[in-house]
Amino acid sequence: MKIFLNKKKLLNSIHREKNLGFVPTMGAIHTGHISLMRRSLDECDKTVVSIFVNKPQFNKKIDFKKYPRNIKKDILILKKIGVDILFIPTNKDIYPAGVNKNINISTFANILCGKNRPGHFKAVVDVVDRLIKIVKPKKIYLGEKDMQQLKIIQDYVKKNKIKVKVINCKTVRESSGIPYSSRNFLLSKKQKNVAKKIYNFLFKNKHSLIKNIKNINKFKIKVIKIGADKIDYINILDINKINKPYKKKRNLKIFIAYYLGKTRLIDNF
Ligand code: PAJ
Repeated sequence: MKIFLNKKKLLNSIHREKNLGFVPTMGAIHTGHISLMRRSLDECDKTVVSIFVNKPQFNKKIDFKKYPRNIKKDILILKKIGVDILFIPTNKDIYPAGVNKNINISTFANILCGKNRPGHFKAVVDVVDRLIKIVKPKKIYLGEKDMQQLKIIQDYVKKNKIKVKVINCKTVRESSGIPYSSRNFLLSKKQKNVAKKIYNFLFKNKHSLIKNIKNINKFKIKVIKIGADKIDYINILDINKINKPYKKKRNLKIFIAYYLGKTRLIDNF
């Protein structure tokens, strides 16, 4: 695996590639990330993975500071699964003249996480747009674990006629049912057990929740009782109605964001 710590050297190595797959990450690599990489390795000639903890997309300084970083372990994992190129850009590579304040994104950014995390999705789209411009991949692999992020990026790529195919990849879950996430590294055993119980409770009661959406507060109270420290939202959304043109088939999903201690977790299923 080639590792590039700056943009110039990366560009020299990939500028002739015609069928590049790209998996952007913030590191602390886990099984969820690996599933995206395996798919890219299967479908593309070469796979580029980036690791960049993108400061502007964090709402609190402390979250950025606390974000898990395991670069040595990450490199070993990527080598083992056969990733061709790892790009670890510098801040200057990505933001030579600061962030882009004129990013226009879909109104879907104003609900769910967008409400609790002002500016978050603009910062995500900004960095992904910059990374796409550098790597120029044929396909970019994104996870449904972050469904709102995925839909907003898909919409941005379409509206701006960016030449890349967005490939959405299914959420990979631990045996407990909770999705793999870098933030899981921040949880205690006890907190992980609470996360498992919350997932199992909502998963088991999905149909009842859909039928009784007016009683959502009852479900929220139960989630607090199980051990969540704070709930940002629990909501039911038809994800086939999010991007235009809408798909006819209904696809209702539960979307949740909540805190265990200071760690914010999200999921949809
Ligand atoms: P990060 O949280 O590192 O996730 C990188 C990619 O892995 C995202 O597309 C995410 O949806 C996917 N992913 C995470 N957990 C997953 C799981 N359990 N199953 C399947 N896919 C999973 O998302 C980001 O980084 C950043 O916002 C980024 C797009 C890199 C921009 O900074």
